[in-house]
Amino acid sequence: MELSLKEKIEQRTKEVEAVIYSFLPEEEGYQKTVISAMNYTMQAGGKRLRPMLMEETYRMFGGSDRGIIEPFMAAIEMIHTYSLIHDDLPALDNDDYRRGRKTAHVVYGEAMAILAGDALLNYAFETASKAFRGTEEDIRTAKAFQILAVKPGIYGMIGGQTADVESEHRKIPFEELLFIHENKTAALIECAMMIGAVLAGASREEVRIVEQVAKKTGLAFQIQDDILDKTSTSEELGKPVGSDEKNEKNTYVSMKGMEQATEDVRRFTEEAVAAFDSLHRENAFLRALLLELSGRKK
Ligand code: IPE
Ligand code: IPE
Ligand code: MG
Ligand code: MG
Ligand code: MG
Repeated sequence: MELSLKEKIEQRTKEVEAVIYSFLPEEEGYQKTVISAMNYTMQAGGKRLRPMLMEETYRMFGGSDRGIIEPFMAAIEMIHTYSLIHDDLPALDNDDYRRGRKTAHVVYGEAMAILAGDALLNYAFETASKAFRGTEEDIRTAKAFQILAVKPGIYGMIGGQTADVESEHRKIPFEELLFIHENKTAALIECAMMIGAVLAGASREEVRIVEQVAKKTGLAFQIQDDILDKTSTSEELGKPVGSDEKNEKNTYVSMKGMEQATEDVRRFTEEAVAAFDSLHRENAFLRALLLELSGRKK
């Protein structure tokens, strides 16, 4: 019997999760506490969207080497998880729940949560480096490694988080909100999909289009996150609702209104899929997943 899209996503999430788990460090030694804090948040669940997008993009361009893609799948989820641990800290969004659990700083204390974030960022590179083999394929792996270094950094995720923090309690122009969304969120989605494409040997032009697909997807994804912060429940999301209002953030909803925000999720998703179709590559699941994200409830 053919699985529904929802069932397929669930099945793929489990498969991706098994890959991620296989790269987590053992909780032992004098560093045991920080490793426990890392694994606590890594094992709390989550949609596993970024590694899933990475793997599906890799497949779409004909990639099939598990030993090369899997370390990068685990690495991007480590970087994403570090960004969540730090995003929830009292000095940033000050949130107590994440992925249906108390946040790392609540359970392990602030010092360990800061260190666990640092450790996950570093361990991501330690993990991705396992894809190097000393063969000609290392050229692609090095390019992917570079993308993994750049997109989460000051010209990507951290750039967006910086502007996000500095936009609290004041009015910002809409352009600045777009910068925040494109960087704090879309950059990691770009990172995931571009790495999949590069590792599979996609052309420079194809990688450029993949970046555009991911940018539009990421924008839609963050607008939907802003919408859910106002309309969902903490039970459904596994994280607090009303966090943006509490911190007096500028969000897509506060600046453009709910109706326009909803419309723009649809529009950016359509633009993402149009760019995806212009690649003329086959991956029906990935295409359906991109469309599905716009109506996500968590
Ligand atoms: C949360 O990301 C942070 C944002 C960029 C909105 P996700 O919604 O992908 O969180 P998890 O991984 O499913 O917990
Ligand atoms: C976070 O944006 C993006 C990150 C880089 C973590 P938010 O602060 O809106 O994410 P949530 O709502 O806490 O997941
Ligand atoms: Mg935040
Ligand atoms: Mg937050
Ligand atoms: Mg949010």
